[in-house]
Amino acid sequence: MLPNVLQPRATDHVPVLAEEVRASLAVRPGETVVDATFGAGGHASLLAADLHGKGKLIAIDRDPGARTYFEQLEKRARVNARLLRGDFGVVLPQLADNGVRADAILLDLGVSSMQLDRPERGFSYATDAPLDMRMDPTQELSAREVVNEWSERDLATIFRRYGEERYARQIARAIVRRRREQPFAGSGDLVDTIRAAIPAPARFGDGHPAKRVFQALRIAVNDELGSLETALPAALRMLRPGGRLAVISFHSLEDRLVKQFLRERERGCTCPPDFPVCVCGHEPELRAVQRRPVRPGQAEVAANPRSASARLRAAVKTEAAPE
Ligand SMILES: C[S@@+](CC[C@H](N)C(=O)[O-])C[C@H]1O[C@@H](n2cnc3c(N)ncnc32)[C@H](O)[C@@H]1O
Repeated sequence: MLPNVLQPRATDHVPVLAEEVRASLAVRPGETVVDATFGAGGHASLLAADLHGKGKLIAIDRDPGARTYFEQLEKRARVNARLLRGDFGVVLPQLADNGVRADAILLDLGVSSMQLDRPERGFSYATDAPLDMRMDPTQELSAREVVNEWSERDLATIFRRYGEERYARQIARAIVRRRREQPFAGSGDLVDTIRAAIPAPARFGDGHPAKRVFQALRIAVNDELGSLETALPAALRMLRPGGRLAVISFHSLEDRLVKQFLRERERGCTCPPDFPVCVCGHEPELRAVQRRPVRPGQAEVAANPRSASARLRAAVKTEAAPE
Protein backbone atom coordinates (compact mmCIF):
# COMPACT_ATOMS: atom_id res chain seq x y z
CA MET A 1 0.00 0.00 0.00
CA LEU A 2 1.73 3.18 -1.22
CA PRO A 3 -0.84 5.95 -1.28
CA ASN A 4 1.18 9.16 -1.11
CA VAL A 5 4.46 7.77 -2.35
CA LEU A 6 3.16 8.00 -5.88
CA GLN A 7 2.54 11.74 -5.73
CA PRO A 8 5.81 13.58 -6.24
CA ARG A 9 6.33 16.87 -4.41
CA ALA A 10 8.67 19.77 -5.14
CA THR A 11 10.63 19.23 -1.89
CA ASP A 12 11.46 15.63 -2.88
CA HIS A 13 14.07 16.86 -5.33
CA VAL A 14 16.54 18.86 -3.22
CA PRO A 15 19.81 16.96 -3.64
CA VAL A 16 22.36 17.47 -0.86
CA LEU A 17 25.86 18.79 -1.73
CA ALA A 18 24.80 18.65 -5.37
CA GLU A 19 27.62 20.69 -6.92
CA GLU A 20 30.20 18.98 -4.73
CA VAL A 21 28.94 15.54 -5.84
CA ARG A 22 29.07 16.65 -9.47
CA ALA A 23 32.61 17.94 -9.09
CA SER A 24 33.75 14.77 -7.30
CA LEU A 25 32.21 12.42 -9.84
CA ALA A 26 33.24 14.57 -12.86
CA VAL A 27 30.97 12.62 -15.22
CA ARG A 28 31.89 12.81 -18.91
CA PRO A 29 29.84 11.99 -22.01
CA GLY A 30 29.88 8.29 -22.90
CA GLU A 31 30.40 7.09 -19.33
CA THR A 32 28.32 4.72 -17.18
CA VAL A 33 26.93 6.26 -13.98
CA VAL A 34 25.41 4.28 -11.12
CA ASP A 35 23.15 6.13 -8.68
CA ALA A 36 22.69 3.43 -6.04
CA THR A 37 20.28 5.59 -3.99
CA PHE A 38 18.08 7.10 -6.69
CA GLY A 39 15.37 8.47 -4.33
CA ALA A 40 13.58 11.31 -6.10
CA GLY A 41 16.31 11.45 -8.74
CA GLY A 42 17.74 14.84 -7.74
CA HIS A 43 21.41 13.84 -8.05
CA ALA A 44 20.69 11.45 -10.90
CA SER A 45 19.16 14.26 -13.00
CA LEU A 46 22.31 16.34 -12.63
CA LEU A 47 24.63 13.43 -13.34
CA ALA A 48 22.54 12.36 -16.34
CA ALA A 49 22.76 15.93 -17.68
CA ASP A 50 26.56 15.70 -17.45
CA LEU A 51 26.44 12.75 -19.85
CA HIS A 52 25.19 15.19 -22.55
CA GLY A 53 23.07 12.56 -24.22
CA LYS A 54 25.84 9.96 -24.46
CA GLY A 55 26.20 7.29 -21.82
CA LYS A 56 24.29 5.12 -19.43
CA LEU A 57 22.58 5.65 -16.08
CA ILE A 58 21.89 2.72 -13.78
CA ALA A 59 19.56 3.74 -10.94
CA ILE A 60 19.01 1.59 -7.85
CA ASP A 61 16.55 2.04 -4.97
CA ARG A 62 14.86 -0.37 -2.61
CA ASP A 63 11.79 1.85 -2.36
CA PRO A 64 9.25 1.15 -5.13
CA GLY A 65 8.17 4.81 -4.85
CA ALA A 66 11.37 5.73 -6.73
CA ARG A 67 9.82 4.43 -9.97
CA THR A 68 7.56 7.49 -10.42
CA TYR A 69 10.57 9.79 -10.22
CA PHE A 70 12.58 7.53 -12.48
CA GLU A 71 9.89 7.64 -15.15
CA GLN A 72 9.97 11.44 -15.04
CA LEU A 73 13.76 11.45 -15.41
CA GLU A 74 13.59 8.96 -18.27
CA LYS A 75 11.37 11.35 -20.22
CA ARG A 76 13.72 14.31 -19.66
CA ALA A 77 17.19 12.79 -19.83
CA ARG A 78 18.28 11.65 -23.24
CA VAL A 79 20.40 8.80 -21.94
CA ASN A 80 20.07 5.07 -21.75
CA ALA A 81 18.64 4.62 -18.23
CA ARG A 82 17.31 1.72 -16.20
CA LEU A 83 16.03 1.33 -12.67
CA LEU A 84 16.80 -1.71 -10.54
CA ARG A 85 14.65 -2.07 -7.46
CA GLY A 86 16.48 -3.65 -4.56
CA ASP A 87 18.98 -3.26 -1.76
CA PHE A 88 22.26 -1.85 -3.08
CA GLY A 89 24.02 -4.31 -0.75
CA VAL A 90 22.61 -7.07 -2.96
CA VAL A 91 22.31 -5.35 -6.36
CA LEU A 92 25.86 -3.90 -6.55
CA PRO A 93 27.56 -7.29 -5.88
CA GLN A 94 25.27 -8.88 -8.51
CA LEU A 95 26.18 -6.23 -11.08
CA ALA A 96 29.89 -6.58 -10.26
CA ASP A 97 29.69 -10.40 -10.54
CA ASN A 98 27.99 -10.05 -13.91
CA GLY A 99 30.81 -7.93 -15.26
CA VAL A 100 28.91 -4.60 -15.29
CA ARG A 101 31.45 -1.78 -15.06
CA ALA A 102 30.93 1.86 -14.12
CA ASP A 103 32.82 5.15 -14.29
CA ALA A 104 31.00 6.92 -11.46
CA ILE A 105 29.04 5.56 -8.50
CA LEU A 106 27.05 7.57 -5.96
CA LEU A 107 25.64 6.45 -2.63
CA ASP A 108 23.56 9.15 -0.91
CA LEU A 109 22.71 7.21 2.22
CA GLY A 110 19.74 7.18 4.53
CA VAL A 111 16.14 8.12 3.90
CA SER A 112 14.77 10.60 1.41
CA SER A 113 12.40 13.51 1.99
CA MET A 114 9.71 11.52 0.20
CA GLN A 115 10.02 8.87 2.93
CA LEU A 116 10.42 11.24 5.90
CA ASP A 117 7.58 13.53 4.89
CA ARG A 118 4.99 10.78 4.42
CA PRO A 119 3.70 10.07 7.95
CA GLU A 120 2.28 6.69 6.92
CA ARG A 121 5.85 5.41 6.31
CA GLY A 122 6.44 5.75 10.06
CA PHE A 123 9.94 7.33 9.91
CA SER A 124 9.06 10.43 11.86
CA TYR A 125 8.69 10.89 15.62
CA ALA A 126 6.94 14.22 15.02
CA THR A 127 3.53 12.75 14.14
CA ASP A 128 1.64 9.76 15.49
CA ALA A 129 1.89 7.16 12.70
CA PRO A 130 2.00 3.36 12.35
CA LEU A 131 5.34 1.89 13.42
CA ASP A 132 6.87 0.90 10.10
CA MET A 133 10.17 2.47 8.86
CA ARG A 134 10.71 0.01 6.01
CA MET A 135 12.38 1.60 3.00
CA ASP A 136 11.15 -1.41 1.06
CA PRO A 137 7.48 -1.85 2.06
CA THR A 138 7.52 -5.47 0.83
CA GLN A 139 10.16 -6.42 3.41
CA GLU A 140 8.86 -8.47 6.35
CA LEU A 141 10.66 -6.83 9.26
CA SER A 142 9.18 -3.51 10.36
CA ALA A 143 9.66 -1.27 13.40
CA ARG A 144 6.44 -2.67 14.87
CA GLU A 145 7.95 -6.14 15.07
CA VAL A 146 11.26 -4.87 16.47
CA VAL A 147 9.56 -2.82 19.19
CA ASN A 148 7.01 -5.49 20.13
CA GLU A 149 9.05 -8.68 19.76
CA TRP A 150 12.78 -8.12 20.19
CA SER A 151 14.21 -8.89 23.63
CA GLU A 152 15.00 -6.14 26.10
CA ARG A 153 18.67 -6.89 25.64
CA ASP A 154 18.57 -6.64 21.84
CA LEU A 155 16.61 -3.39 22.04
CA ALA A 156 19.13 -1.90 24.47
CA THR A 157 21.97 -3.02 22.18
CA ILE A 158 20.58 -1.34 19.06
CA PHE A 159 19.63 1.83 20.94
CA ARG A 160 23.19 2.06 22.25
CA ARG A 161 25.01 0.92 19.10
CA TYR A 162 22.92 2.55 16.36
CA GLY A 163 21.45 5.47 18.29
CA GLU A 164 24.36 6.18 20.66
CA GLU A 165 21.59 6.61 23.26
CA ARG A 166 22.82 7.10 26.82
CA TYR A 167 19.61 5.77 28.36
CA ALA A 168 19.40 2.69 26.12
CA ARG A 169 18.83 0.22 29.00
CA GLN A 170 16.20 2.33 30.72
CA ILE A 171 14.30 2.88 27.46
CA ALA A 172 14.44 -0.82 26.50
CA ARG A 173 13.13 -1.78 29.94
CA ALA A 174 10.28 0.74 29.73
CA ILE A 175 9.30 -0.53 26.26
CA VAL A 176 9.18 -4.16 27.39
CA ARG A 177 7.15 -3.26 30.48
CA ARG A 178 4.65 -1.21 28.49
CA ARG A 179 4.19 -3.78 25.68
CA ARG A 180 3.24 -6.47 28.22
CA GLU A 181 0.09 -4.46 28.89
CA GLN A 182 -0.55 -3.52 25.28
CA PRO A 183 1.61 -3.93 22.18
CA PHE A 184 2.77 -0.72 20.49
CA ALA A 185 0.86 0.15 17.33
CA GLY A 186 1.81 3.78 16.67
CA SER A 187 4.82 6.03 17.08
CA GLY A 188 2.96 8.35 19.50
CA ASP A 189 2.85 5.72 22.27
CA LEU A 190 6.47 4.87 21.66
CA VAL A 191 7.54 8.52 21.89
CA ASP A 192 5.63 8.87 25.20
CA THR A 193 7.30 5.75 26.60
CA ILE A 194 10.77 6.94 25.56
CA ARG A 195 10.18 10.39 27.02
CA ALA A 196 9.03 8.94 30.35
CA ALA A 197 12.07 6.61 30.55
CA ILE A 198 14.60 9.44 30.21
CA PRO A 199 15.49 11.38 33.38
CA ALA A 200 13.69 14.75 33.32
CA PRO A 201 16.76 17.03 32.92
CA ALA A 202 18.02 14.99 29.93
CA ARG A 203 14.70 15.30 28.07
CA PHE A 204 15.41 18.87 27.08
CA GLY A 205 18.95 18.71 25.72
CA ASP A 206 20.22 17.45 22.37
CA GLY A 207 17.11 17.54 20.20
CA HIS A 208 13.92 15.49 20.42
CA PRO A 209 14.14 12.80 23.15
CA ALA A 210 13.07 10.07 20.67
CA LYS A 211 15.50 11.10 17.91
CA ARG A 212 18.24 8.59 18.74
CA VAL A 213 15.89 5.63 19.34
CA PHE A 214 14.11 6.31 16.03
CA GLN A 215 17.46 6.45 14.24
CA ALA A 216 18.44 3.13 15.84
CA LEU A 217 15.16 1.47 14.86
CA ARG A 218 15.49 2.69 11.27
CA ILE A 219 19.05 1.39 10.98
CA ALA A 220 18.05 -1.98 12.44
CA VAL A 221 14.86 -2.39 10.37
CA ASN A 222 16.69 -1.65 7.12
CA ASP A 223 20.03 -3.23 8.12
CA GLU A 224 21.60 -0.03 6.87
CA LEU A 225 25.14 -0.69 8.05
CA GLY A 226 25.13 -4.28 6.78
CA SER A 227 24.08 -3.10 3.30
CA LEU A 228 26.75 -0.42 3.26
CA GLU A 229 29.44 -2.88 4.31
CA THR A 230 28.71 -5.17 1.35
CA ALA A 231 28.07 -2.34 -1.09
CA LEU A 232 31.41 -0.54 -0.74
CA PRO A 233 33.73 -3.35 -1.92
CA ALA A 234 31.24 -4.23 -4.68
CA ALA A 235 31.20 -0.60 -5.86
CA LEU A 236 35.00 -0.61 -5.95
CA ARG A 237 34.97 -3.84 -8.00
CA MET A 238 32.51 -2.30 -10.46
CA LEU A 239 34.57 0.81 -11.07
CA ARG A 240 36.86 0.98 -14.08
CA PRO A 241 40.38 2.29 -13.37
CA GLY A 242 40.00 6.06 -13.07
CA GLY A 243 36.36 5.57 -11.98
CA ARG A 244 35.00 7.70 -9.11
CA LEU A 245 33.08 6.73 -5.99
CA ALA A 246 31.19 9.31 -3.89
CA VAL A 247 29.37 8.58 -0.65
CA ILE A 248 27.23 10.99 1.37
CA SER A 249 26.53 9.86 4.93
CA PHE A 250 24.28 11.44 7.53
CA HIS A 251 25.48 9.98 10.81
CA SER A 252 28.77 9.08 12.38
CA LEU A 253 28.26 5.29 12.20
CA GLU A 254 27.90 5.36 8.41
CA ASP A 255 30.65 7.92 7.99
CA ARG A 256 33.02 5.84 10.11
CA LEU A 257 32.42 2.80 7.91
CA VAL A 258 33.02 4.80 4.73
CA LYS A 259 36.11 6.48 6.16
CA GLN A 260 37.63 3.16 7.28
CA PHE A 261 36.91 1.51 3.94
CA LEU A 262 38.46 4.34 1.94
CA ARG A 263 41.47 4.54 4.24
CA GLU A 264 42.13 0.82 3.97
CA ARG A 265 41.93 0.86 0.19
CA GLU A 266 43.98 4.06 -0.13
CA ARG A 267 46.78 2.44 1.81
CA GLY A 268 49.15 0.44 -0.34
CA CYS A 269 51.61 -1.59 1.66
CA THR A 270 50.18 -3.65 4.52
CA CYS A 271 53.57 -4.77 5.90
CA PRO A 272 54.21 -4.19 9.62
CA PRO A 273 55.73 -0.72 10.18
CA ASP A 274 59.05 -2.17 11.38
CA PHE A 275 59.72 -3.98 8.04
CA PRO A 276 62.65 -2.24 6.34
CA VAL A 277 61.25 -2.92 2.84
CA CYS A 278 57.83 -3.79 1.50
CA VAL A 279 57.31 -7.50 0.97
CA CYS A 280 53.51 -7.52 0.46
CA GLY A 281 53.53 -5.65 -2.85
CA HIS A 282 50.05 -4.19 -2.23
CA GLU A 283 49.29 -1.09 -4.25
CA PRO A 284 46.65 1.51 -3.26
CA GLU A 285 43.31 0.78 -4.91
CA LEU A 286 41.80 4.20 -4.30
CA ARG A 287 43.02 7.79 -4.15
CA ALA A 288 41.01 10.30 -2.10
CA VAL A 289 39.51 13.24 -4.02
CA GLN A 290 39.47 15.46 -0.91
CA ARG A 291 41.64 15.22 2.19
CA ARG A 292 38.70 15.91 4.49
CA PRO A 293 35.00 15.10 4.17
CA VAL A 294 33.05 17.84 2.40
CA ARG A 295 30.28 19.44 4.45
CA PRO A 296 27.48 21.74 3.34
CA GLY A 297 27.99 25.48 3.72
CA GLN A 298 25.81 27.78 5.80
CA ALA A 299 23.67 28.77 2.82
CA GLU A 300 22.83 25.14 1.98
CA VAL A 301 21.99 24.31 5.61
CA ALA A 302 19.77 27.40 5.84
CA ALA A 303 17.94 26.44 2.64
CA ASN A 304 17.77 22.73 3.47
CA PRO A 305 18.20 22.02 7.21
CA ARG A 306 18.26 18.27 6.52
CA SER A 307 21.64 18.68 4.86
CA ALA A 308 23.23 19.81 8.16
CA SER A 309 24.75 16.45 9.09
CA ALA A 310 25.82 15.44 5.55
CA ARG A 311 29.42 14.44 4.87
CA LEU A 312 30.69 13.64 1.41
CA ARG A 313 33.73 11.44 0.84
CA ALA A 314 34.96 10.63 -2.63
CA ALA A 315 37.81 8.64 -4.16
CA VAL A 316 39.18 7.61 -7.56
CA LYS A 317 40.06 4.02 -8.44
CA THR A 318 43.75 3.72 -9.27
CA GLU A 319 45.19 2.04 -12.34
CA ALA A 320 46.95 -0.44 -10.05
CA ALA A 321 43.71 -1.72 -8.45
CA PRO A 322 42.80 -5.29 -9.44
CA GLU A 323 40.01 -5.45 -12.09
C1 LIG B 1 18.88 10.34 0.75
S1 LIG B 1 17.85 9.51 -0.35
C2 LIG B 1 18.55 9.79 -1.91
C3 LIG B 1 18.06 11.04 -2.56
C4 LIG B 1 18.58 11.22 -3.97
N1 LIG B 1 20.02 11.31 -4.02
C5 LIG B 1 17.95 12.43 -4.63
O1 LIG B 1 18.68 13.36 -4.98
O2 LIG B 1 16.73 12.43 -4.79
C6 LIG B 1 18.27 7.85 -0.08
C7 LIG B 1 17.53 6.87 -0.97
O3 LIG B 1 18.26 5.67 -0.94
C8 LIG B 1 17.41 4.60 -0.76
N2 LIG B 1 18.18 3.59 -0.04
C9 LIG B 1 18.69 3.68 1.21
N3 LIG B 1 19.34 2.55 1.52
C10 LIG B 1 19.25 1.74 0.43
C11 LIG B 1 19.73 0.44 0.14
N4 LIG B 1 20.42 -0.27 1.05
N5 LIG B 1 19.48 -0.07 -1.07
C12 LIG B 1 18.78 0.64 -2.00
N6 LIG B 1 18.28 1.87 -1.78
C13 LIG B 1 18.52 2.41 -0.57
C14 LIG B 1 16.22 5.11 0.01
O4 LIG B 1 15.09 4.34 -0.28
C15 LIG B 1 16.12 6.53 -0.51
O5 LIG B 1 15.23 6.61 -1.57
